[in-house]
Amino acid sequence: MQQIQWFPGHMAKTERQISADIRLVDVVIELLDARIPISSSNPRLPELIGNKKRLILLNKSDLADKKENELWQAYFSSRKISSLCVNATSNNRYTKSIHSAILTLCAEKFERNKRRGIQNTTVKAMVVGIPNVGKSTLINSISNKAAAKTGNKPGVTKSNQWIRLNKDIELLDTPGILWPKFESETVGRHLAFIGSIKDDIIDIGTLVFHLIEVLQTEHKGLLFQRYGVDEEQPALSVLEEIARKKMCLKKGGELNLDTASRMVVDDFRKAKLGTVTLERVIDYAE
Ligand code: G4P
Repeated sequence: MQQIQWFPGHMAKTERQISADIRLVDVVIELLDARIPISSSNPRLPELIGNKKRLILLNKSDLADKKENELWQAYFSSRKISSLCVNATSNNRYTKSIHSAILTLCAEKFERNKRRGIQNTTVKAMVVGIPNVGKSTLINSISNKAAAKTGNKPGVTKSNQWIRLNKDIELLDTPGILWPKFESETVGRHLAFIGSIKDDIIDIGTLVFHLIEVLQTEHKGLLFQRYGVDEEQPALSVLEEIARKKMCLKKGGELNLDTASRMVVDDFRKAKLGTVTLERVIDYAE
């Protein structure tokens, strides 16, 4: 796969903005994709967060393997990092547990203020994550969309508007965009498999071969279940068989491998092949 360079010009500027925003909050909510928790993270984030509290949300957990979701939570827990598995598209289902995780992380602040006689403590939070991980969907979901923007006054810049989530929590209305770190080909591939890299800078033909190979070796049976194909053959032959079975044909009757490739990648991204976690805890735990 070609080297992927992702908006490199914006990175420094975005990082400066995130650092400035982090100074304003008590808690940083880091969204990861539950299917690739390592590749969807930015290794520089802990440094940017400094001593602020950190809550990891493993988003799109509905598309990931249930057992692995639990294992990833245990992984973060063993590293003393709070985490929750969520689905930002699930209409408020996780709002309560997210609020409660934020309050637990900030319990000290409430205690301290109480000792000082301060009754109404508000904790401030912001959402960060790589593009397409679900930041806007999550903000809309946990803030119930219609929530008042408490900072919506003249003189308050757009990036400093706050949405009140409940009586105790305010959320910065614009998320911080992080860039994944392409430290290996695997990271780039995993991001491409789940659709985090725009398809127009990716060769779909190459991508589908890598995807088929990963499924053949690490997630046996899924290609057979979905398309009824023999998995024990080279990736090209698997793709050709899928194209034949799914009638992906050009005008003259020739196989249309491009259409078949897009269909397989799309099916994978929508979990039609099954809920697959590409990065398993066992491969990352020391
Ligand atoms: P961003 O702000 O981080 O860039 O991400 P955004 O909220 O725009 O979400 C990107 C896509 O991911 C959206 O799909 C959104 O519906 C979907 N999404 C977000 N959270 C979840 C989740 O927990 N589960 C599932 N299944 N999907 C989620 P989209 O608008 O259709 O865009 P696309 O998928 O066509 O790129």
